[in-house]
Amino acid sequence: MCGIVGYIGTQQCVPILIDGLRKLEYRGYDSAGLAIHDGKGIELVRAVGKLRALEEATRERNTLEGTLGIGHTRWATHGGVSEENAHPHVAGDIALIHNGIIENHSALRKRLEGDGAAIASDTDTEIVAHLVDAHVRAGKDLVEGVRDALQEVEGAYAIAVVSRKDPSRLVVAKNASPLVLGVGDGENFAGSDIPALLEHTRRMVIMEDGQMAVLRRDGIELFTLSGDPVEVVERRVDWSPVMAEKAGYKHFMLKEIFEQPRAIEDTLRGRLERELGDINSAEIGLTPEVARSIKRVCLIACGTSHHAAMTGHYYFEQLAGIPTVVELASEFRARDPLIGDGDMVVAISQSGETLDTLMGAKIAKDKGAHILAIANVTDSAIPRMADGQLYTRAGPEIGVASTKCFTAQLLALLMLAIYVGRQNKHLSDEQTRDLVEELARLPLHMRDVLTGTRQLVSNIARRYKEAQDVLFLGRGLNFPIALEGALKLKEISYVHAEGYAAGEMKHGPIALIDASVPVVVLLPKDSYRDKSLGNLQEAKARGGRMIVVASEGDEDAHATADEVVEVPVVNELLAPFLTVLPLQLYAYYVADMKGTDVDQPRNLAKTVTVE
Ligand code: AGP
Repeated sequence: MCGIVGYIGTQQCVPILIDGLRKLEYRGYDSAGLAIHDGKGIELVRAVGKLRALEEATRERNTLEGTLGIGHTRWATHGGVSEENAHPHVAGDIALIHNGIIENHSALRKRLEGDGAAIASDTDTEIVAHLVDAHVRAGKDLVEGVRDALQEVEGAYAIAVVSRKDPSRLVVAKNASPLVLGVGDGENFAGSDIPALLEHTRRMVIMEDGQMAVLRRDGIELFTLSGDPVEVVERRVDWSPVMAEKAGYKHFMLKEIFEQPRAIEDTLRGRLERELGDINSAEIGLTPEVARSIKRVCLIACGTSHHAAMTGHYYFEQLAGIPTVVELASEFRARDPLIGDGDMVVAISQSGETLDTLMGAKIAKDKGAHILAIANVTDSAIPRMADGQLYTRAGPEIGVASTKCFTAQLLALLMLAIYVGRQNKHLSDEQTRDLVEELARLPLHMRDVLTGTRQLVSNIARRYKEAQDVLFLGRGLNFPIALEGALKLKEISYVHAEGYAAGEMKHGPIALIDASVPVVVLLPKDSYRDKSLGNLQEAKARGGRMIVVASEGDEDAHATADEVVEVPVVNELLAPFLTVLPLQLYAYYVADMKGTDVDQPRNLAKTVTVE
């Protein structure tokens, strides 16, 4: 995900901008750039690769000096990784950087090109620079030009804009992408997050969606996008450098758990046609022709990504009506799989580098299957070898235990299944419209669950943290979530945990149940709820201590369980996005209370490139 920084003051800005970009490296990027106002004009430096390359390029331009500038790290979305696509983008007198996605960029590009604009890159961002330039050329002041341009834009953005003709102002604006202002003495700053600015000031202004700001050397003015003034409210941030890296959270894992609503919003962005009640084919990674030709789907992955694949199984069969198999990538490649023409193999991997998944996809490709990669890391090995790519946009995941990438993978699979179901006419207009609406509301529900259950789950973790074994039970779409809950607990707290299909309990695991074994049951209101309630009662009757994740207002759950964590009632296909959240929190709090190394648990690696 891109990072942005801006500076206006009296110091030379190149080192300040590069230092800010370094703090934003954790967001992931593949190119970087600066635009520096030297008092006369704007100097542009851009480079592909790490910040080292940008520093090298700035050193070569030893005359690069100025006290107003903007800097950017780009994580490619629209257009490949190249110097032309790197930010800042320039149009006329305007230089602009952007984090986010402009959804109506194609229509705007067509219009601007029709008006004679020479657009040099494949990016959605350059379109905004040209829009601002067009308004300024038409006689608008820089601030009005930015405001008018943003009225035409749909999507998410945090932008920073400078004009060659105006060395006294830096204009920024935000909608759905993060942007923070730093207040200094005779200088002011803008950045994607607080850590990027913390070395220079602790006085911060957190911008809200739909706001614009004009930064001068001696002050900051804040407005709504319609031009109404907004009071500038400063807050003092006293984070230590380590806390700053984690945005104030104790561990990356906790930060990433709480980033999930945003990761879902970003992964949805530009892929839902809300007015049409449909999925937009543009960034699904599959052409309509290929989608219609698929006879069978095979989902391959490892670990947490395999649990996402297991949920995807339900999505493909129900929504696309296509026979689907799910395989652990290591087992898939351990035999000579019967796979080939007419099969679509979806290789799912956060890192995009997992060796077993990569080799499995290669075997399938050699046998003639169509390969689609679902990955979080752009241009990693699996998407590079695949025929199509569907990127999750969860941002870099630092904690070894995958959390936000898991829910983003669920979403990618769900959107893919809806898209294929639309192409082969398995899914009706009405079903699709309902799903699209529910998907659009999903981030809100996730936010509610995270904030509403955090304290309760932490209390439950405190009561049960000494348990040596924990059972997780789920049925249907929540069976993979039970497996995922058990995996999370195992990997970070080193507590033995087993995930089971609830219907399997009486075929063996019920023998384990006694008062020392907490049983976590997933019981959202879905087609399997009554059967799972029966399993809950069976376990309770054998002395089990029952922790239940149930839908709001489920009286039976409250009557039977020792602990109940409630989640909102949603379409049952979406319930896993909510039921997994308390399980992630539970694993986190148990591990934290035990004092384990939450972000880097023993023996585990984030990217597994061995067999
Ligand atoms: C998840 O918490 C794990 N650390 C692990 O199971 C992981 O999901 C697995 O190694 C697959 O990684 P990938 O998604 O990068 O391919």
